[in-house]
Amino acid sequence: MSKKKNQVSRRQFLNYSLTGLGGFMAAGILIPNLRFAVDPVLKAAGDAGDLTNVSLSVDDITEEPLRVDWDVEQVDGWYESEVNRTAWVFKDENGDIQAFSPICTHLGCFVNWEGSEDHPNEFFCPCHNGRYEKDGTNIPGTPPLEPLHVYEHKVEDGMLFLGDPRPREEA
Ligand code: FES
Repeated sequence: MSKKKNQVSRRQFLNYSLTGLGGFMAAGILIPNLRFAVDPVLKAAGDAGDLTNVSLSVDDITEEPLRVDWDVEQVDGWYESEVNRTAWVFKDENGDIQAFSPICTHLGCFVNWEGSEDHPNEFFCPCHNGRYEKDGTNIPGTPPLEPLHVYEHKVEDGMLFLGDPRPREEA
């Protein structure tokens, strides 16, 4: 075998070097971006069903809607923050616990229980006079086109735990 056959030409060396460098740079760009793209999917799967103790004893829940506020840790990609949440919580006529989001399904204003003297025993949105029955159903003829969203919930050791609010058909 001749010595010349095993030698790498200057052109080949340059080709190998540039290909290797190009591949290294592409991996440096693609791998972090791939991680960012996949991360929310992994998080969503892992966080499903996380419920928070809202420091409310079930014994303190009556048929009168009660405003409950609590904080949750929120992770968006690499950014962590504390988010305030609110729910209207009460027991219905069957004694079942109901927990509604106070966010109006029209344009997102804050809905209050008996927020209007003219409409007792209803949830009321002051922004455009949106109204909801006590069971969260939107009243026809007012702006909201769907019921208040419902928090997933569970009771553990006599305490109420709340998760994420969901549209009624998903809850
Ligand atoms: S935002 Fe509530 S009625 Fe429009």
